[in-house]
Amino acid sequence: MAETNTGGALLANETEGGEGVTDMIRTSGLVKRYGKVVALDGLDLAVPKGTVFGLLGPNGAGKTTAIRILTTLLEPDEGSVEVAGLDVRKKPGRVRERIGLSGQNAAVDEHLSGYENLEMVGRLYHLGRKRSRARARELLDRFELSEAGDRPAKTYSGGMRRRLDLAAALVAEPEVLFLDEPTTGLDPRSRVQMWETIQELARGGSTVLLTTQYMEEADRLAEDIVVIDRGRKIAHGTSDELKTQIGGERVEVVVASSSDVPAAQAILETLCVGDCQFDEQTRTLTAAVDGGVEALGQVLRRLGDRNVAVVDVGLRRPTLDDVFLSLTGHAAEVADSTDGSSDGSEDERSDVREKEAVR
Ligand SMILES: Nc1ncnc2c1ncn2[C@@H]1O[C@H](COP(=O)(O)OP(=O)(O)OP(=O)(O)O)[C@@H](O)[C@H]1O
Ligand SMILES: [Mg+2]
Repeated sequence: MAETNTGGALLANETEGGEGVTDMIRTSGLVKRYGKVVALDGLDLAVPKGTVFGLLGPNGAGKTTAIRILTTLLEPDEGSVEVAGLDVRKKPGRVRERIGLSGQNAAVDEHLSGYENLEMVGRLYHLGRKRSRARARELLDRFELSEAGDRPAKTYSGGMRRRLDLAAALVAEPEVLFLDEPTTGLDPRSRVQMWETIQELARGGSTVLLTTQYMEEADRLAEDIVVIDRGRKIAHGTSDELKTQIGGERVEVVVASSSDVPAAQAILETLCVGDCQFDEQTRTLTAAVDGGVEALGQVLRRLGDRNVAVVDVGLRRPTLDDVFLSLTGHAAEVADSTDGSSDGSEDERSDVREKEAVR
């Protein structure tokens, strides 16, 4: 029993080797400041073993900062952090043996081939030559990179790099996997494949914490979701719970002519119960309503009375985008693959080096 009793209440979860641990990830009162910027402002998280957890938030919300702390790459200013039953601040080396990380920017060695990258990771994890080679081939195959496997990674497209990076995070079959925006920059097909892979990993017993700005992704993958904004938790629940929190269904109407938008807007405003949104450009109007189909009928009748031509109409449940909008008052910006955290100040290590540190 190498672990000592560190006394904190949180560490009641801590046991040797993670045996019997129910929450594979726990943070309590996590605070991280970068100068005047408070990146994390008292974050509490708990992720049960074998589940996929979604950390959701817009650019600059603190997602990458949380992942860096959880993966031992960054020291928090305050709070406690536990991964696989181990105190991350006291046992960083032990934690690293148990986790995999796929950072926000794919961290692959450009000069090595996909195969060599994966084999190197296996060797760094002391899998031995034979096992490292077999694992590299296996993962190339799984991520449909076999054909490109012997080419230098610098010839890979962005999506291929992302897949190689995730493959690298899986080499040692970690129990806890941290994925920072795993599907940013992937085409729709690769995104779906990535989702399937993540689901498969969780089914196999891995615990996955993923960050995302794609509401659809959290909706589809995560059993439990925490939404953060400016380092603070602003909502927590299953996607259904979050949707319920912000009310019922939405009526969505696309009018034929932009000159009809004001009239349609006036009608929807009298009928909607919560948020009403209007997009002039796409001539789309969305309104939260009570009463489902009946409300839809009412909207259509009134539009008809005013001779507003409608090209499309529908009733839908709120998306997580709606949840986000109503919680934060601003829409979730979907960034490209650039790293929002790179503002050139303190702690500007490259993800490649971070990755090596984890390995
Ligand atoms: N090394 C750093 N030095 C100074 N400020 C930083 C640093 N890294 C992050 N920040 C700031 O901390 C806040 C949280 O950044 P973080 O990268 O954690 O956000 P994020 O949720 O991952 O955003 P994104 O969706 O853009 O990746 C931001 O205001 C960011 O500018
Ligand atoms: Mg980030």
